[in-house]
Amino acid sequence: MKLSGLARLGAALLVATASALSRGAPSASASPTGSAPRAPALSDEGCIGCHADAARTWEGSLHHASASNSAYEIAVYAEPLAFCRRCHAPHGDPSRETSEAARQAGITCTTCHLRPGDARTVLSSPRERPIAAPHGVERSAALGQAVCARCHEFDFPDARGERMQKTATEHRASAHAATSCASCHMPQENGRRSHAFAASRDAAVLTRAVSVRADRDGDRVRFVLEPEGVGHAFPTGDLFRRLTLTVMTEDAAGRRLATKRRYFGRVFGPVKSGAEIVRREIADERLFARTEVTFALDPHAVPTTVRWQLDYERVAFSPTRQPEEAVVEGSITLARGTLGPHP
Ligand code: HEC
Ligand code: HEC
Ligand code: HEC
Ligand code: HEC
Ligand code: HEC
Repeated sequence: MKLSGLARLGAALLVATASALSRGAPSASASPTGSAPRAPALSDEGCIGCHADAARTWEGSLHHASASNSAYEIAVYAEPLAFCRRCHAPHGDPSRETSEAARQAGITCTTCHLRPGDARTVLSSPRERPIAAPHGVERSAALGQAVCARCHEFDFPDARGERMQKTATEHRASAHAATSCASCHMPQENGRRSHAFAASRDAAVLTRAVSVRADRDGDRVRFVLEPEGVGHAFPTGDLFRRLTLTVMTEDAAGRRLATKRRYFGRVFGPVKSGAEIVRREIADERLFARTEVTFALDPHAVPTTVRWQLDYERVAFSPTRQPEEAVVEGSITLARGTLGPHP
């Protein structure tokens, strides 16, 4: 279903809701919180019809595309598990191939704003001045944080007891633990909270999130990388993401001498578990705080020019344990520079 279709349905629902409310008369407004006994059940079509700003920003979000974006579709084709669908396609039956309606819907208004079993009370954030909504409202800080953690923190599907994503844990350990996920991820737009949740595909968001300083001292090049305003590891979320710092040296004639790389990601490798060898996380080398990195250049061929760049990479899969051989499906350059010859 496209938004226009949903909105049309929403408009129809709006009329139905308004008349139901006027019939339901004073009792509905007498209990502004909690569910009015005869209030109509809420649906995504209804939310979308009444909340145009939220609907517009949500429409372009990865939440809306959680079951239809190409990265997910390729991955779930390879691993068609109920486990994946329960989270990425919450409106479908997880034990079957996702229906077209559930694929198009993705993660919707009702997924975040309604509690299971109560289709009449909308979960909202605490606010200073109450506003009158034509539906039940329950205000709780959970919406901007605990609700996110339901999906942004989880174990691998086997019983190994290891986290596949751990953004909530990283957040608790970060310097920004006191700031909710929604405070950073839902900036105000025209007085309304944006529902676009832009991050891994948005160069502006990613570029702002790290500062890089580079300097050179003879045959050494030193970098200082510093995450800025990031409330967890950078990158977080999907386990195959990484930052790649590339340093290339050239001689006076502009010929490439060498290329070196440093990766900032989670490292998985074989470990012994009883009699078995299993694949586990063996190191977490993502950026958590200010980090210094030094590259030693070849002292016998001290190059004239050093070019460097920092990329944010979404890895599709790694055929071997060598990080150079990973297949990258999307990348955004966050910073680059050139260091001339040392005086
Ligand atoms: C009949 C129209 C209508 C429908 C249907 C509707 N809303 Fe609302 N809602 C409103 C109005 C009007 C307000 C109050 C003014 C405003 O925020 O625009 C409101 C307020 C809210 C608030 C802020 C509440 C507060 O006091 O903190 C949230 C959150 C919200 N709605 C979410 C939803 C969601 C999610 C759905 C669908 C499950 C939904 N609404 C369905 C009209 C509607
Ligand atoms: C990923 C979870 C999520 C989804 C999906 C979602 N919301 Fe929200 N929404 C939130 C959170 C969190 C807040 C509160 C932000 C804050 O004030 O801290 C919010 C706030 C709101 C508000 C009130 C805040 C404002 O500034 O207007 C409305 C209205 C609303 N959402 C409607 C919707 C509608 C309509 C949809 C579907 C098109 C939707 N939401 C989808 C999480 C979600
Ligand atoms: C029902 C599960 C669910 C809930 C609840 C949820 N998310 Fe998500 N979120 C997802 C999935 C799945 C994706 C990624 C979809 C994809 O890439 O296929 C995502 C994507 C995102 C992204 C974009 C990531 C990127 O790579 O650009 C951000 C940011 C985000 N969520 C933050 C939040 C915040 C903050 C909350 C709470 C207000 C929240 N989410 C609630 C499942 C959820
Ligand atoms: C202090 C602000 C801040 C807080 C708090 C915060 N984030 Fe983020 N988040 C960012 C920034 C900045 C980025 C972009 C840099 C990056 O990709 O890590 C980001 C990126 C993401 C991404 C995209 C993945 C990636 O790394 O590309 C997801 C998903 C996400 N955040 C979810 C969450 C969730 C869930 C919470 C709460 C548990 C949260 N964030 C708390 C600032 C914040
Ligand atoms: C408990 C919820 C949950 C489960 C289960 C889950 N995912 Fe996700 N998935 C997420 C969230 C949250 C994100 C967004 C993280 C981010 O963008 O950083 C995500 C992101 C992704 C991405 C996007 C990566 C990118 O860089 O664009 C793919 C692909 C993906 N998941 C595939 C799968 C597959 C396949 C499965 C089953 C094996 C699965 N997921 C199971 C929550 C889940």
